[in-house]
Amino acid sequence: MSEIQTPYERIGGEKVVRQLCKTFYQIMSDTPQTKLIRAMHPENIQISEDKLFMFLSGWLGGPPLYTDQFGHPRLRARHLPFSIGIEERDQWLYCMAQALKTLDLDQLFAEQLMSSFVQTADFMRNKPES
Ligand code: HEM
Repeated sequence: MSEIQTPYERIGGEKVVRQLCKTFYQIMSDTPQTKLIRAMHPENIQISEDKLFMFLSGWLGGPPLYTDQFGHPRLRARHLPFSIGIEERDQWLYCMAQALKTLDLDQLFAEQLMSSFVQTADFMRNKPES
């Protein structure tokens, strides 16, 4: 009999979520085509990595670390200081797609995760496209 697992459990728990965040920002820092969004982040990426880890932990159905520490994420409001359009969204999603590929995930599960990221990233857009 199979138990219903959270995406957090399915991905591999804390270790793998941490690894995903590390790889995500490594890719963002190392890819010339994503330097637009890398430049929006602090020089020292560690704090961003930790916050993404804490957020994703709860978002995936694991411990709500971000909410425990900072309250409601208000993710869209927190991104308003940054100009985010299609280009920025797609750079972010490129990094996440590449980072997910480094994990050994079931293909359908990886696709489901990616489509949730696409929705969330699209929601973060705040710049009218000309
Ligand atoms: C759409 C393109 C996106 C861009 C260009 C972007 C950029 C940024 C920037 C510049 C920051 C501030 C630096 C920092 O604190 O790390 C930030 C913070 C953050 N982002 Fe994004 N982001 C995007 C999408 C997303 C998505 C899809 C998620 C979640 C799935 C996310 C989660 C976070 C979190 C949790 C923080 C920390 C908020 C805080 O407490 O200050 N971001 N993002």
